[in-house]
Amino acid sequence: MESSFGLLLVLITLAFIHIVEAQDGKGFISLDCGLPEDQTSHKMTGTELLYSSDKDFVQSGKTGRVRENPNNYGETYLTLRYFPEGIRNCYNLSVEKGRKYLIRAYFVYGNYDGQDIKPVFDLYLGPNLWETIDLQRLVNGTATEILHIPTSKSLQICLVKTGNTTPAITALELRPMGKESYLIDTGSSLSLLFRRYYSASGFQLRSTDVYDRRWDRFFIKEWTNISTDLRVKIGNDYIPPQEALKNAATPTNTSAPLTIYWISTNSSDEFYVYAHVAEIKDLKEDEIREFNVLLNGKLYTSEPIIPKKLDLITLQSKTSRTCQLGLCSLQLTRTERSTLPPLLNALEVYTAIQFPQLETDESDVDTIKDISATYALSIINWQGDPCVPQQLRWDRLNCSIRDMYTPPRITSLNLSSSGLNGTIAAAIQSLTQLETLDLSNNNLTGGVPEFLGNMKSLSFINLSGNNLNGSIPQALQKKGLELFVEGNPRLCLSDSCRKPPEKKFHMAIVASVVSAAIVIAVLVLFLVLRKKKSKGINQPPRTSTEEVTFANKNRRRFTYSEVLQMTNNFQRVLGKGGFGLVYHGTVNGHEQVAVKVLSQSSTQGYKEFKAEVDLLLRVHHTNLVSLVGYCYEGDHLALIYEFLPNGDLKQHLSGKGGKSIINWSIRLRIALEAALGLEYLHIGCKPPMVHRDVKTANILLDENFKAKLADFGLSRAFQGGGESQNPTAVAGTFGYLDPEYYRTNRLAEKSDVYSFGIVLLEMITNQPVINQTTENSLITQWVGFQINRGDILEIMDPNLRKDYDINSAWRALELAMSCANPSSSKRPSMSQVIHELKECIVCENTGISKNRSLESQEMNVSLDASVVPMAR
Ligand SMILES: *[C@@H]1O[C@H](CO)[C@@H](O)[C@H](O)[C@H]1NC(C)=O
Ligand SMILES: *[C@@H]1O[C@H](CO)[C@@H](O)[C@H](O)[C@H]1NC(C)=O
Ligand SMILES: *[C@@H]1O[C@H](CO)[C@@H](O)[C@H](O)[C@H]1NC(C)=O
Ligand SMILES: *[C@@H]1O[C@H](CO)[C@@H](O)[C@H](O)[C@H]1NC(C)=O
Ligand SMILES: *[C@@H]1O[C@H](CO)[C@@H](O)[C@H](O)[C@H]1NC(C)=O
Ligand SMILES: *[C@@H]1O[C@H](CO)[C@@H](O)[C@H](O)[C@H]1NC(C)=O
Ligand SMILES: *[C@@H]1O[C@H](CO)[C@@H](O)[C@H](O)[C@H]1NC(C)=O
Ligand SMILES: *[C@@H]1O[C@H](CO)[C@@H](O)[C@H](O)[C@H]1NC(C)=O
Ligand SMILES: *[C@@H]1O[C@H](CO)[C@@H](O)[C@H](O)[C@H]1NC(C)=O
Ligand SMILES: *[C@@H]1O[C@H](CO)[C@@H](O)[C@H](O)[C@H]1NC(C)=O
Repeated sequence: MESSFGLLLVLITLAFIHIVEAQDGKGFISLDCGLPEDQTSHKMTGTELLYSSDKDFVQSGKTGRVRENPNNYGETYLTLRYFPEGIRNCYNLSVEKGRKYLIRAYFVYGNYDGQDIKPVFDLYLGPNLWETIDLQRLVNGTATEILHIPTSKSLQICLVKTGNTTPAITALELRPMGKESYLIDTGSSLSLLFRRYYSASGFQLRSTDVYDRRWDRFFIKEWTNISTDLRVKIGNDYIPPQEALKNAATPTNTSAPLTIYWISTNSSDEFYVYAHVAEIKDLKEDEIREFNVLLNGKLYTSEPIIPKKLDLITLQSKTSRTCQLGLCSLQLTRTERSTLPPLLNALEVYTAIQFPQLETDESDVDTIKDISATYALSIINWQGDPCVPQQLRWDRLNCSIRDMYTPPRITSLNLSSSGLNGTIAAAIQSLTQLETLDLSNNNLTGGVPEFLGNMKSLSFINLSGNNLNGSIPQALQKKGLELFVEGNPRLCLSDSCRKPPEKKFHMAIVASVVSAAIVIAVLVLFLVLRKKKSKGINQPPRTSTEEVTFANKNRRRFTYSEVLQMTNNFQRVLGKGGFGLVYHGTVNGHEQVAVKVLSQSSTQGYKEFKAEVDLLLRVHHTNLVSLVGYCYEGDHLALIYEFLPNGDLKQHLSGKGGKSIINWSIRLRIALEAALGLEYLHIGCKPPMVHRDVKTANILLDENFKAKLADFGLSRAFQGGGESQNPTAVAGTFGYLDPEYYRTNRLAEKSDVYSFGIVLLEMITNQPVINQTTENSLITQWVGFQINRGDILEIMDPNLRKDYDINSAWRALELAMSCANPSSSKRPSMSQVIHELKECIVCENTGISKNRSLESQEMNVSLDASVVPMAR
């Protein structure tokens, strides 16, 4: 904790560089479409990049090979995949949401089918049209390239049939780009018009480009070339290849401007221009090169440009520009005092393209895929987005589409006569906007599930012509729901089954017999387990009568109907947790509870569930949310917790949902209480427990704003918890996750300390834990950057209105940074954290009048002296 922030920053930076490299190298995806089965990959000559077969990224299509190759294209462009079936066929690529990618697709016909019919078709990116590919016009083939930021974790690139010709694709490339390059308006993507370097001789550059971009050489006779053998320094994320920067064009007539023209085919096209300049001539004392940059006659930069000696400057516009009358020009004109003509090393021009249509609700998409997998459906047009574009909507479903800016929802599902067998899939209940469900004429077995009656929007169900048995649950016999079940010979429809009182009676007996048996079994198991456990391990002393009371009275197993009753049929949603929705409930008529409903797929089985719940039932501490009971009945899983009326800390930091903003001294107290809860898990519990998902959303507040940690122990036994972005890492939430965990794949107590450090930083700064739009995207990087600038006021949450003791703020910040140290061995233990937080609180309480309301300037002065926090 004594280390200076400067050193910390270096460490953090190094650690993150390491992670990025370890994770995915360059992260390139290179697909040679239609590569034969026996040849899984090959290296492209020149770039030496490995191209693999596309078969794992697309489910349809056939492979072909060109018969005519007049242009002598290389091996990568000789095989292709064509799609004779279906209207839309899609590639599905895993991407990092929010990252900028260069995406390039190649199309060469080469008479692969001997028919000599060149195709014309549309290329879509998700639900949006990217480009029309017209190989009747571009007979020798074409490549199209965009810079795009994916809005979800998978990228769908689709070929859509628009006429009688068969769509085909030759190669597909994905290249992640540097974060601070090609800044564009949100919602736009960039389509490459040209990318050139200016040299009197040379070839297309590609293999030396770190992002695998292609740079064409360009030169005209009105220009003179200059060149250098020296290296040009690059201080930005654009990183053009050295060869592109070591040459430049200047006008031969030294008083004339240097002008680049291009044609705009559509006067509403908007352009983004990136010009790369570096001084590569050895200037004499009295020489000066200075010029203005004009785009279509208007100044492009506010000040004249003086290229820096062997040091790259990239000129970029913050907004797009259109060209009048279809002719666009970029003009470099020397200023009065300039003794040398202007120079240009390289230039990139893009047109903006809009992809406004949002994809279908992600949860609906996951669910429909889940259903498709459950019943092993293979429906040819179930590819790409289920709902949009509307003309390509998946067969057998319908959607509600409000506007382009609202994700569409699935409202009807018709799997009539689809050869379904097995039971009615539980996943269906996750289609929360479903209105019509037709599963008629299949071979479905099992009972009619109760959840169908609990789906709020569902108003029509046809289950006719199946093999269902049992009786119709009460929940489905309600007004406003049309249910058709004829043609299920084993389904009991007689009045005796239907009559509510009688049915209830039967149900009640069955239920009580079953649950009594379970309660006894659970109790026995519980006692046996406890006995076993308490033998060798030091447990806090507790009498066995107490345990029995726990198992019996306060904490226990609930039946599903009790859960329905306590939540009043799931009337009030409190929020959405990592594992499912959380509802408000009441037990014993007055005691408020929070009921967390888990989806069945979130646990591995009853045994694991039970083991985990038993463990959680044992844990109790004033700063931990206590488990009141649980429900495990067939498909229904729920955990019942004590209810905390003041919501979570995250809401109070953001002020969302009408929550109050809490002040600094309460924040410190909350931090201390959360730390006490965590310390108890680490050293007070036997065996010790790692929380695994410490975050502000998991710190709940009771009526007196006392903090209690929630959700501990869950992510171990239940899958799909947290908002993990990495499908293989189930535990934790992106942004709070210990970076060391990526390398070691082991979560230990120190991982919780890291997450706690992030929580502290959030409480201090109220900055997002991850901000995809800036360079310093992680909160630790952001704080490190601000500390380097000596910007204490910028660091503290503005909502605190400077109402804090400066020393206590610094101490807390220092503590947070040491908790978030990339190296786990350098992080303090929770006990040390508690000690330090107590000191902060003392500091806050005693220092109030002394340091408060200092002018910002004074603070900056003290910081400028040394970028290290002031002595305590
Ligand atoms: C296609 O390639 C051939 C052979 O290189 C060439 O003669 C022809 O001009 C090209 N056509 C177009 C439209 O580029
Ligand atoms: C696309 O791939 C991702 C990750 O591999 C997967 O989760 C998703 O379900 C796939 N989508 C489709 C439409 O196949
Ligand atoms: C211009 O380019 C030519 C051919 O690449 C080269 O021989 C010549 O040295 C260059 N001139 C200057 C001034 O760099
Ligand atoms: C050089 O450029 C200037 C300014 O554009 C022009 O006035 C002059 O005529 C040009 N000289 C020649 C020889 O073309
Ligand atoms: C020009 O672009 C606009 C917007 O991108 C589009 O609506 C219009 O159809 C285009 N016009 C032509 C002639 O391509
Ligand atoms: C799909 O839903 C829309 C809006 O509810 C409706 O107008 C349309 O007729 C439906 N289409 C089919 C094929 O059911
Ligand atoms: C479901 O589709 C079948 C045939 O595909 C049709 O006969 C039936 O009417 C549809 N059901 C509904 C509810 O629209
Ligand atoms: C459903 O049918 C398929 C193929 O007929 C069979 O492989 C599968 O085991 C069946 N599933 C169930 C649950 O009966
Ligand atoms: C329900 O499905 C069956 C079998 O497909 C069909 O005969 C019947 O007409 C459907 N009922 C309604 C109301 O659509
Ligand atoms: C149900 O399965 C049987 C055999 O398993 C098959 O003969 C029958 O056609 C199936 N019925 C439907 C409606 O798919």
